[in-house]
Amino acid sequence: MGIIKPLPDLLISQIAAGEVVERPASVLKELLENSLDAGAAKIDVQLEEGGVRLIRVADDGAGIAPEDLPLALARHATSKIASLYDLERVDSYGFRGEALASIASVARVTMTSRHAAETHAFRLRSGTDAIEPAALAGGTVIEVADLYFNTPARRKFLKAEATEFAHCDEVLRRMALARPDVAFTLSHNGSAKRRLASADFPRRARDIIGEEFFPHARSLDATAGPLRLSGLAALPAYSRAARDEQYFFVNGRYVRDKLLTHAARQAWTDILHGARHPAYVLFLELDPAGVDVNVHPAKTEVRFRDARGIHQFVFHALQRALAAPLVAAASPPMTSPTNAPSPFFQARQSGLGVGEPAARPYLEFARAAFAASAALAPDDLPRGAVAPAPTPDERDQGAAPLLGYAIAQLHGVYILAQNAGGLVLVDMHAAHERILYEKLKTSLDGGPPATQSLLVPLLLSASEAEMATAGEHADALAQLGFAVAAAGPRELAVRRLPALLAGGNAVDLVRALLGELAEHPASRVVETQRNELLATMACHGAVRAHRLLSLPEMNALLRQMEETERADQCNHGRPTWVQLSMAELDRLFMRGR
Ligand SMILES: Nc1ncnc2c1ncn2[C@@H]1O[C@H](COP(=O)(O)OP(=O)(O)OP(=O)(O)O)[C@@H](O)[C@H]1O
Ligand SMILES: [Mg+2]
Repeated sequence: MGIIKPLPDLLISQIAAGEVVERPASVLKELLENSLDAGAAKIDVQLEEGGVRLIRVADDGAGIAPEDLPLALARHATSKIASLYDLERVDSYGFRGEALASIASVARVTMTSRHAAETHAFRLRSGTDAIEPAALAGGTVIEVADLYFNTPARRKFLKAEATEFAHCDEVLRRMALARPDVAFTLSHNGSAKRRLASADFPRRARDIIGEEFFPHARSLDATAGPLRLSGLAALPAYSRAARDEQYFFVNGRYVRDKLLTHAARQAWTDILHGARHPAYVLFLELDPAGVDVNVHPAKTEVRFRDARGIHQFVFHALQRALAAPLVAAASPPMTSPTNAPSPFFQARQSGLGVGEPAARPYLEFARAAFAASAALAPDDLPRGAVAPAPTPDERDQGAAPLLGYAIAQLHGVYILAQNAGGLVLVDMHAAHERILYEKLKTSLDGGPPATQSLLVPLLLSASEAEMATAGEHADALAQLGFAVAAAGPRELAVRRLPALLAGGNAVDLVRALLGELAEHPASRVVETQRNELLATMACHGAVRAHRLLSLPEMNALLRQMEETERADQCNHGRPTWVQLSMAELDRLFMRGR
């Protein structure tokens, strides 16, 4: 007697629904994708009770012919692909021919559609065979009512109405970002929640992500062969406590992909504090044959044929966009955001090709600004104007350095300097920290760093845990330029330091390092955690606020800033300096010229 039996069709669909229909938002996602695949230009969404009671999606797409209505609800029936060849190159959202069947197995589905060739619409309810005539001007209306009415176990997992609605809204936001050309409306329990007119991408992104993101957003559009990465990425001055503003689309499909998230994260590592998350809306486009979307039934995961190449491309394109001069592309924090031109528009026009040589953005901007200010009266200088870089001759003649000369220190925190353009304000700790960090990186890149031995070892009392960490990570510490060893049961001796940090508070520095090392396994800690450790070192090595600096010391710092890559942002992503032009100062005093 055999015990293996084929499952009934309904049960098969219910099992499939377990993967695809996790909650109302997943139903909405499938319906929106179907509408977009049908070429809709306008999509209206109505939800009741977080979508559990009703999800209604009306589109003005191509419609479904009456004879196709039963097939649309049938399992493994699709109009989108017909062969493996098609599957490997799929450019529609759907291709499994399964979504509606799965949904219909756990909810009551009504489809009303009017195909262009018909004089009126037809309607089909799931669970029945009768196709009735109906009234509809065009397109398709799908109503999904009473989700999980027949699978109460599943229903129990649903969250509060507000939560389910929030998930639905998020699904709509993603679609709306991917397709700014399509108009969307969303209502919940009869009240309008979103009304999005067809727009260009910047306008749509502004509607979806909000105004705060924009003053800090960098636009990018990079291509390399068949790969293209475009969109908006926020400079570190705008970061998030959660990963809630990270939108990655692959060929128009929203995905949650480890490889892409990792590449993005890396592009921000040097400029964003580890506990903060970057914000971005990015579109990766590539030949559909180079990416497999048939990885998970919900299609939010993808697999790339050339994973390494994609990672590199995304990382470099982003890193370059983020490193471009702060002041040239976006308006600096000092100007009011209301009159600041959208950085997206500005940068979109110039475009950032991956093929461009690695720039030293800070320096280049400063040079350009300097050249411009030498050639024009300050008032004629449009904000963020970038003139051609001066020839070496011009630079030699113009004796004033780019960041000018220090004139004072303000409350032990800021350096005030005068340059050709006007007033420069520098956050001295942030700037010094950045310089040290870049120097530490460079010094480690060339092998073991230059160190300084201490004639009298520095002693610090240590906890048992710190003693253990120092022993366990002695190699890692040595690679970073430290010699730290036990000098007693509860005492550590520091005998050697990286030369770059010799001036700072070594006791605090070593403690902070031990704290960080303790969180990671001893093996290979330097390779994987190196930059984080260097950031800690730089932070502790940098001049503290409230230390009085002499003018020569301040000028030395300014000169170092001019020489340092990415000096315009500190390791935590805050700007390190701002320029107040003479024109801006004049405006403060309503002083016409
Ligand atoms: N809004 C719509 N407008 C026009 N045709 C639609 C619409 N919704 C569904 N269809 C038709 O119904 C078919 C089945 O839809 P369903 O979502 O179940 O599968 P699919 O989109 O082909 O694949 P997947 O399961 O990957 O979503 C589609 O192939 C399409 O032909
Ligand atoms: Mg579909």
